[in-house]
Amino acid sequence: MTNQAEFQDRLLSLGLARVSEAAAIASAALIGRGDEKAADQAAVNAMREQLNLLDIAGTVVIGEGERDEAPMLYIGEKVGTGNGPAVDIALDPLEGTTLTAKDMPNALTVIAMAPEGTLLHAPDVYMDKLAIGPGYGVGTVTMAMSPTERVLALAKAKGGTARDITVCILERPRHEAMIDEVRRTGAAIRLITDGDVAGIIHCAEAAVTGIDMYMGSGGAPEGVLAAAALKCMGGQIYGQLLFRTDDERARARRAGITDLNRIYTRDDLVTGDVIFAATGVTQGSILQGIRQEPGWIETETILMRSKTGSVRRMKYRAPVR
Ligand code: FBP
Repeated sequence: MTNQAEFQDRLLSLGLARVSEAAAIASAALIGRGDEKAADQAAVNAMREQLNLLDIAGTVVIGEGERDEAPMLYIGEKVGTGNGPAVDIALDPLEGTTLTAKDMPNALTVIAMAPEGTLLHAPDVYMDKLAIGPGYGVGTVTMAMSPTERVLALAKAKGGTARDITVCILERPRHEAMIDEVRRTGAAIRLITDGDVAGIIHCAEAAVTGIDMYMGSGGAPEGVLAAAALKCMGGQIYGQLLFRTDDERARARRAGITDLNRIYTRDDLVTGDVIFAATGVTQGSILQGIRQEPGWIETETILMRSKTGSVRRMKYRAPVR
């Protein structure tokens, strides 16, 4: 049975980078054009086409939505040639559709692949998230701590004071109280308008990005993608699903979640080995955006494997005919 084939993460990783590059290139023409939907659709089409060339028996577990609301890359869609290992796929063909439409920084195409049954089937609801980068012990910061306690605990672990900490938070009315509280500690805040996968990845390269910690709520699917990235780069993430309606609770139950109050650790969100690829779309602080010159287009992709902790940054230049 082909589906029993071993998860060949080393061999599959280059294919995954191609998938993510193709989605970015497809959305390039839509950067700054004010059309979120068209940008997303272009990335979805390209990602799906490339994914179906891979020798995998893949199932989309984090995708564009449930089957009745997403014609392509919906949750449960089978992807790949079917000749290869059975894998779970988590993807966001364009993480930051608004960032792309407005040509604002850090829009990415994102995809993760892992052995079947090892990625949380997160429903499309909000998730409360807390993340820090590598080098800190498990439990340095916790969901049970207040924002102030988190800042002080991380400052102590870093060997400094609250003034040495920068927290990344999505700028949303629902985060106003948290933002005020973090400011009162003396910590700095980097507010982002969208794109919390990138926001969380920033924690894993604090020396480069200046971000020490991420907190606040955003999409639960993005939480699983961010956990996949941190599993490769090091660092911790905690997530708790947030429900606003009974319909959202029902979505979670349909996805197989029984404990609706559970706090997930990074290794609960991604329980086995994972490979992760992201390509810059707009200019960013962790990845270069797409460069277009007459005759060619260039992308930068980060490609990582949790098994080895390897992190590659790959430039790809394609002729435009
Ligand atoms: P899009 O890719 O759909 O633009 O979503 C981006 C995003 O900012 C995510 O990174 C984040 O998790 C979520 O939206 C936040 O949701 P909301 O905008 O409802 O606060």
